[in-house]
Amino acid sequence: MERLQKAMAEAGVASRRASEKLILQGKVAVNGTIVKELGTKVGTHDEIVVNGVPIQREQHVYYLLNKPRGVISSAHDDKGRRTVVDIIHDEDIDERIYPVGRLDYDTTGILLLTNDGALANKLMHPKYEVEKTYIAKVEGIIKNDELKQLRLGVIVDGRKTKPAKSKLINVDRAKKTSLVQLTIHEGRNHQVKNMFKVVGHPVIKLHRETYGPLNLYGLQPGEFRALKPEEIQMLKK
Ligand code: URA
Repeated sequence: MERLQKAMAEAGVASRRASEKLILQGKVAVNGTIVKELGTKVGTHDEIVVNGVPIQREQHVYYLLNKPRGVISSAHDDKGRRTVVDIIHDEDIDERIYPVGRLDYDTTGILLLTNDGALANKLMHPKYEVEKTYIAKVEGIIKNDELKQLRLGVIVDGRKTKPAKSKLINVDRAKKTSLVQLTIHEGRNHQVKNMFKVVGHPVIKLHRETYGPLNLYGLQPGEFRALKPEEIQMLKK
């Protein structure tokens, strides 16, 4: 059960404030009765009618995608390029979902998509510090003190990055590249690529392995699955 104004806002009727006004003005009916109480609770099966028009409500859905390279992490693209939402809609799933945060066009890996705006906003808020682990193939042989700089924080766009975890996985001495695992809990634009650039090792390839408690186990690039109820609970906690 959730508050009526929240259900209205989530269905895209109006902002929560504007929905409250509509309720107070007597423009909202629940199961055929005009409701003017702001605290009114509604469930997914209650019928809400605003100004005589029933609102479209959707059950919350949560999908985990292994994003392939070459797709955009948004719901629409002005240039008509394929998006992560297209991948899911191609399978006849038609909820209005959107990605929680972004992965670059050329980044692969774990991405959550949902129509649960409240949870999405919380997960993206720096206060909640959702951990994300990336595997980066970078140019050059990275040194221990550069890994330490990444951990302690580097200056990106005039601001120091928050403490992170970094671990060398492998080096290819012939090709002069390194494979590094980096765990961060911020979500600034191009953050991982920018952090490696600052320490002198531009990223060649980037993959996100984990998002909070979730991992990609069993999902090939381009594949997705619905989250299990217990995974949804873990995210909400
Ligand atoms: N950091 C980046 O630089 N790119 C991504 O896609 C994700 C994190």
